[in-house]
Amino acid sequence: MRRRLSLLLLLGILFVLITTSIFFSDPIRGYIPKTTTGPVTAPPGSLQEPPSHSNVDTTTKVPQTKFDGAVHIALTETGGSHDEVVAAFVHSFASQPRVQMDIYQLLPRFGIKDIMASFDLPSKPSGPNDPSDFLSWKKPEQKLPDIWVATTCEIDLLYYQKNLTMLLENGKTYIYCVIHHADRWNNQKVKNLASQWVEQSRIEFVTLSPHTAEYLQKEGVGKWRVSMPPLIRYLVPIFPVSITSEESTQKQTNGENAPLPMVANEELSFALQGDYDPSRRDYTSLFSRLDSFLSGGNYKDLTMHLLGHGDNKPIIPDTIKPHVQFNERLSYIEYYSLIARTFALLPAFASVEYLDRKASSTIPAALIAGVPLVATKEMVQAYGYLNMDVVWEQEVGRSDIDVVGDVLKMTVEERRRKKQAVRESRDEIIKGNTRRVGEWLQEAMRRMGREL
Ligand SMILES: *[C@@H]1O[C@H](CO)[C@@H](O)[C@H](O)[C@H]1NC(C)=O
Repeated sequence: MRRRLSLLLLLGILFVLITTSIFFSDPIRGYIPKTTTGPVTAPPGSLQEPPSHSNVDTTTKVPQTKFDGAVHIALTETGGSHDEVVAAFVHSFASQPRVQMDIYQLLPRFGIKDIMASFDLPSKPSGPNDPSDFLSWKKPEQKLPDIWVATTCEIDLLYYQKNLTMLLENGKTYIYCVIHHADRWNNQKVKNLASQWVEQSRIEFVTLSPHTAEYLQKEGVGKWRVSMPPLIRYLVPIFPVSITSEESTQKQTNGENAPLPMVANEELSFALQGDYDPSRRDYTSLFSRLDSFLSGGNYKDLTMHLLGHGDNKPIIPDTIKPHVQFNERLSYIEYYSLIARTFALLPAFASVEYLDRKASSTIPAALIAGVPLVATKEMVQAYGYLNMDVVWEQEVGRSDIDVVGDVLKMTVEERRRKKQAVRESRDEIIKGNTRRVGEWLQEAMRRMGREL
């Protein structure tokens, strides 16, 4: 009897312990996935307007004066490494009518200047100039910009911190603050630099993918205690490139300067992006799979391109040597042209951060080149401007090289159709970027009391 009682007591205590731990623990903690992948408002699979968390009534009673000069835009990059982001923002902002742009870029690399110079724009931007020239008054005709596109905003604000108060008090400039590290925006220092601009609705934040916009909203700027929550948007960092190929150079010497079709010089090849690093990629199994594709005697022309750099190059087994190419130190045009010839690009994310707080440059690179990525559903969801029609899907439990095996078995037609879908999607996104930035600028100028 006693024994039974103590057993009941024990059971009772256990029951209470279990139920309290179920009902009284943090009800949310266990349910928040570590990585939030969905875009804020754009459902995956469709190119939607970027999230616009506007609590700001843009029609507030700012007295409007008609604005009739050119809109002066200064675009800065003070980090020296985000060439493609610069090119994308140059293209979409300088495509607007009545815009005069000055570019200040620390280190334009790998021929990005040639790509920007080839853009078909209503008015040619100046530069790239050195970042120290911005606000230096070296040229007497220099004016304060109406719009400042800070493409490396985290560090641009620090670089120009001595000028921020002057610009704010002057009341003429509106900032587009482009975010690369959404997780750095819960840091006090950048917050101090930006918060006054936020209070006056003179800054908005632009990320490079919907997933990073969502992160910024949930974990960064969106958490700031300000009277006016700022706008958070995203822009897909892509731009048009004339892809070159041997065939096309021939055509050009024949006097044809028309934009080149991308299928020119197609190869039976795929490309892997990422630094040569055995800790990031299992080269042994990759090479043995390539060997097995080749050993059947099919795919005699199959080539694997390893795009990247690093001294830690993997050793290629002799049997597959003729089928593997290291492609390093390419210019951007060569890089995109090479990818354009392949049937698939395989990204390798260095960390899961590329699914929540950071945006990978491999994803836009595939779009720019017009080639499908090998991508998981998770990636397509995070980079919400992609959809299943423009990728080779990598299902759960399968490796990227498994997918390559599947694609090899398809017909040439099937592979071309997918590439065609990517190119169409790319062209739509580029057009959409220009259209959206036009709307953003109208809105910004209205907020500044100037009707465009
Ligand atoms: C911006 O700051 C720098 C450094 O203090 C200064 O030399 C420059 O004159 C400032 N520019 C303007 C327009 O005030």
